[in-house]
Amino acid sequence: MSHLRTRAVHAGQHPDATTGAIATPISQTTAFGYGTLEHGAAIFAGEAPGYRYSRFANPTVAALEAKMADLEGAPAAVAFASGTAATSSVLLGLLRPGDELVFLGPLYGGTEGLMRSLGERWGIKVTDATASGLAAALTPATRLVWVETLTNPTLRLHDLAEVAALARARGVPTVADNTFCTPCLARPLELGIDLVLHSMTKYLGGHGDATGGIVAGSEALVGAVRKTGMGHVGGNLAPQEAFLFLRGIKTLPLRMAAHCEGALAVARFLAAHPAVRAVHYPGLECHPQHALAQRQLQEGFGGMVSFELARCERAAAAAVLDRLRLFTQAVSLGDADSLACHPASTTHSFVSAQTRAAGGVTEGLIRLSVGIEHPDDLVADLEQALRAVA
Ligand SMILES: Cc1ncc(COP(=O)(O)O)c(C=O)c1O
Repeated sequence: MSHLRTRAVHAGQHPDATTGAIATPISQTTAFGYGTLEHGAAIFAGEAPGYRYSRFANPTVAALEAKMADLEGAPAAVAFASGTAATSSVLLGLLRPGDELVFLGPLYGGTEGLMRSLGERWGIKVTDATASGLAAALTPATRLVWVETLTNPTLRLHDLAEVAALARARGVPTVADNTFCTPCLARPLELGIDLVLHSMTKYLGGHGDATGGIVAGSEALVGAVRKTGMGHVGGNLAPQEAFLFLRGIKTLPLRMAAHCEGALAVARFLAAHPAVRAVHYPGLECHPQHALAQRQLQEGFGGMVSFELARCERAAAAAVLDRLRLFTQAVSLGDADSLACHPASTTHSFVSAQTRAAGGVTEGLIRLSVGIEHPDDLVADLEQALRAVA
């Protein structure tokens, strides 16, 4: 089972031993009967296999964890009720007061907000190393380095092998949020990153109908995250949601190919349009990190495109967005349906004007999550919407 497309279908799943059901059954139960006191004691002591309570482990969720561990090339994975629950559990599970956390931004605003709030309350120093570079930001107290595989909304990359090597030389674990790329496009663990995190809410689910998160990596690190995440945060994924993610991931490679094809067509169209000042897409030759993207990403450059209007103002962005028919105005991403948003007034409205400016989030910036519709139809929709500012 070496091809990702095959593993996306089969990894972690097998026909049910009792009924032969091919789709993994939803184990909708809180607790599991263990029969005898001694068998229960052995399960609780970790001396016998078996489930005890769904907050700690559940068969449907375990199948999803096994599938994602396989796709990311990790020994272990643990699933959560959201990407945010996964992030909280990594931070709470691996950091303690006095530690330092270094990130390379820009990060998803919710992640940076969580880090800063946790840092303030729990005495953890949080350093943004985007401008200084990682080497200058690492200190003897650094205990975690955080990076995203493609940044939001201007689609920049960090050299993951370089990040991993720098941190490893100091014995510091690294986390890569791989939400925008999925294992189809980027496999950070192969480049030396220690933990991969996803908001499964996006491409992994793929249909905009389930919220979830996952963390994959070594048994030791995932074990520590699981202990905090399930035992103390109680951020476990529900079995019905796990079923939806298992189903969604089966078609992930096919969907990602369609997202990448559509996004490249849209990016090329926008780059040639006179009403557009700049297009951010790593698959375009004019992207400042196109060479790194070619080296680091596989099979395509992702489904996210952002662009800045020549008339770089909110009224112009509104005129274009309000005219779109196929793209729905919404803030999520990775759905089969194409979505569009104005980051300055939505996803990035809670961050400071200074952070927005540093991240290139101007009033004329529009972010597209290119769905799996035919690229010609998406381009036609953008063409008619851009007439509003032509
Ligand atoms: C890159 C990234 N990481 C994490 C999250 C948080 O995920 P969730 O909304 O599932 O909590 C998001 C949400 O948009 C995201 O874009």
